[in-house]
Amino acid sequence: MKSIALVPVFAVFCLAAVIFAQDPPKEPAKTTKLDFKKDIIPIVKANCISCHNKDKAEHNVMFPDNMTEEDAVKNARMWRNSAREVKKGAMPPKNNGTMGDKDRAKFVEWVEAKVPRPARRPGGEPPKTTGGGH
Ligand code: HEC
Repeated sequence: MKSIALVPVFAVFCLAAVIFAQDPPKEPAKTTKLDFKKDIIPIVKANCISCHNKDKAEHNVMFPDNMTEEDAVKNARMWRNSAREVKKGAMPPKNNGTMGDKDRAKFVEWVEAKVPRPARRPGGEPPKTTGGGH
């Protein structure tokens, strides 16, 4: 009896289960329950639009009357700058109205959750801060 020692090839493929530590997300995934139309537009209208509108766009910052969430995402740089200014209390200017801390926090929360941080353009064109006019 010819027995071929069929050596079972225990191909021990070392499933090198090297689980690569997953890259942490660039930014913590922030979420918000705030609604652009219901929560954010009224804040911008009450606190910003008098100086940043299509007729008077201080520093090239412009919030269109009919702004949408999509506009904000498209004009990420302007919105991110806005959140930064609001956060540090530079906008709205101190002598102009009072923006409550709650509204500040809401504005910043929404922008940080919904508006992607714009990519840096090293040595590229100067940043565009103009809002999206239609
Ligand atoms: C009373 C008028 C007025 C109001 C109200 C106002 N701004 Fe401004 N804003 C200005 C002026 C003037 C400048 C440019 C000079 C400066 O930086 O102070 C400016 C500049 C800015 C800039 C550009 C800053 C930079 O250095 O890049 C941003 C962003 C901005 N405003 C956002 C806002 C937001 C958001 C609000 C509402 C929460 C707001 N502003 C309310 C007058 C105003």
